[in-house]
Formats: sequence, C-alpha cells, structure tokens
Amino acid sequence: MPATLKFQDITVPVPGFGAMGFSQSYGPADDAVSKKTLAHAIDIGCTFWDTAVVYGKGHNETLIGETLRDLKARDKVFVASKCGFECFGGGEGLGTVTNKPAHIAEYIEGTKQRLGFYPDLYYLHRIDPTTPLEESIPALQKLKTDGKVKYIGLSECSAATLRKACSIAHIDALQIEYSPWHTDHEENGLIDAARELGVSIIAYSPLGKGILSGQYRSVDDFPEGDIRRTIPRFQGENFAKNMRIVDEFGRLAEKKGCTPSQLALAWVVAQGAIPIPGTRTAARLDENFGARGVELSEEELKELRVLIETAKPVGNRYGEAHMAMVGR
Ligand SMILES: NC(=O)c1ccc[n+]([C@@H]2O[C@H](COP(=O)([O-])OP(=O)(O)OC[C@H]3O[C@@H](n4cnc5c(N)ncnc54)[C@H](OP(=O)(O)O)[C@@H]3O)[C@@H](O)[C@H]2O)c1
Repeated sequence: MPATLKFQDITVPVPGFGAMGFSQSYGPADDAVSKKTLAHAIDIGCTFWDTAVVYGKGHNETLIGETLRDLKARDKVFVASKCGFECFGGGEGLGTVTNKPAHIAEYIEGTKQRLGFYPDLYYLHRIDPTTPLEESIPALQKLKTDGKVKYIGLSECSAATLRKACSIAHIDALQIEYSPWHTDHEENGLIDAARELGVSIIAYSPLGKGILSGQYRSVDDFPEGDIRRTIPRFQGENFAKNMRIVDEFGRLAEKKGCTPSQLALAWVVAQGAIPIPGTRTAARLDENFGARGVELSEEELKELRVLIETAKPVGNRYGEAHMAMVGR
C-alpha cells in the first residue's frame, strides 16, 4: 500500500492514529503508557492523529497536548479534533449533540486550551438536526477564515447533509466508520458524495473496533464497561455468526503473510480512505503502522471483496441510542 495518501492540499502518512482508547470505550488505560505510545508514534512517523473533545471529556485532548508540549513536537503532528457534544454538563454519557454556532465558537477555545494550540482539522462529531446547516457550517467555516484551523470536517453525517454542507462551504474531511467489517457507506451514497465533492475520507474503527484483528472471540473478551458489550454486533448469536468473516479474514491474512489487522488497514487504504486505527500500546501501533508494507494485488482485492460481500456482519454497529445519532 502507499505510505502516504492525499489529504486536500497535503499528503499524510498512512495509517494515521486514533487516540480515543486512551480515554474511553475499550477498557482502562494508563496515561504514562499512553504518552509512551504517542511518543512512539512520532518516532515511527505515524503522525496523522485523531482526537475529540468528548473523548474522556477533555482528557484525550489534554493527554495529546501534554505529550506534544513535553516532546516539543507539535509541528511534527497533524492533529484533528471534534466538537458537537455538549459534554461538560456533568452526568454519564457523551452529552447532548449540538451544532449551535455558540457551541462551536466556545469549544474550539477549550480545545486550544487543552491541546496548547488550535487543531489542524476540526469536525462536527455528530449532526444536530435542530440547528440548520445554514448556521452551523458558516460557524465552522469561520474557524478557517479566522485562521484558527486549516481544515473543517463532518463525522457520520448523511450524504444529503454532506452535499448541502458543501454547497455552503467546502468540507475538507468526512470521518466515517469504514472497514471490511462495515461498508454501508459505499451503498448509502456517502462515499460517492465525498469523492464527487473532493472531501477526504477518514476511516474510523478500521479494525471493526478490534474484531478484525482476530484477538476477540466472545463478548467475555471485552472488559467490564467496554462499549462493545452494548453493541448488537458483538452480542450472543450475532457474535458467533460474525466470527465467519473474522476467521476468513484471518485465513487470507495468513496466506498473504501479514496480520489480519494489517490486511484490514491495507484494504481501507486501497479504497483511498485514510484509516485511523486506535491502540493503547506501542507494540500494536508498530503492527498497525506495519500495514504500509502490505501490497494488495487486483486479484487479492477481488478475493477480499467477495468475502466482504458474502459475509456481512449481523447486528447493528452501535446500540440504539448511538444509532439514532448517526447518518443525520
Ligand atoms: N467519528 C467518530 O464518531 C468515531 C467513532 C469511533 C472512533 N473514532 C476514532 O477512530 C479511532 C479508531 O477507532 P476505534 O478505536 O473505534 O476502532 P479500531 O481502531 O477499529 O479498533 C480499536 C480496538 O482494537 C484493538 N486493537 C488495535 N490494534 C490492534 C491489533 N493490532 N491487534 C489486536 N487488537 C488491536 C484496540 O485495543 P488495544 O488498545 O488494547 O490495542 C481497541 O480495542 C478512535 O481512536 C477515534 O479516534 C471516531
């Protein structure tokens, strides 16, 4: 696979890196270990990073900010963050989705405070149907014209939203769940719209939230409090049925002489999307970044496509509350 992909007017190293797991969703993390993983990412040149205000409610941005300050490495890393959840109101959960101009203007300053700098790219994490795009997109675009961020993006929106947003201002990035384990956006018009409109595609959960690695065989393999315990795709019979694609994937990786995670990442890059796999450890980071050594032939891509089309996972990719927030 290519070692870089085009992102708007620059090229960036692929795979990138998603930092969410340092703060939430996949079991506990240790800040000291997380910082070592981030330092290692810089050492190996894995420098296209993804965070969000909501990840640990500021914790993730703070961790990245402290690491880059300690290493004096801000200029070595492209940092993307996201607003769109009113997440500092107390209580459990992500908080309310909001795209109000006042929220965008306020949250970017909090992001700057925690990171120590404005991010390169700022997304709306989810679409708030109560705020018209005619209000939210100009507010996001203003961050660009004010020179605070270089690029703006949307995450998990619908194709119609992306098209309308692009008619108001150029959207630089679309972040979507995209992997051999989740290809719905190839069919609902979103990926087509992004390509047509010149929007760079960033693939989150490119390992299918870890499942394509082949390291998880049952819901009991996830620690207490792990979000995957609430996701239909990882429950009971669904999980058992979904082992088919995982096992087949493992077989193809073995044939290829790479790990299943590397195969998944090489496939995503072959679709022209920038994957941002997340891991808490430097060892797995090395493995994931090692996907750049994996070249997939036309024949192998065809074989993978047949598997993807015939072994689609069973069950939703999120629980009910979260499903209601995507694709708007
Ligand atoms: N825009 C959005 O709404 C959205 C949603 C979700 C995620 N994201 C972003 O996308 C990033 C990646 O997504 P993700 O973390 O959900 O999913 P992912 O990258 O598909 O998978 C992460 C999971 O896989 C495990 N893992 C990573 N590399 C592995 C390897 N080589 N072998 C075995 N297991 C491995 C990780 O555990 P360990 O930590 O134990 O290695 C973690 O449990 C996030 O960090 C975040 O920045 C965005």
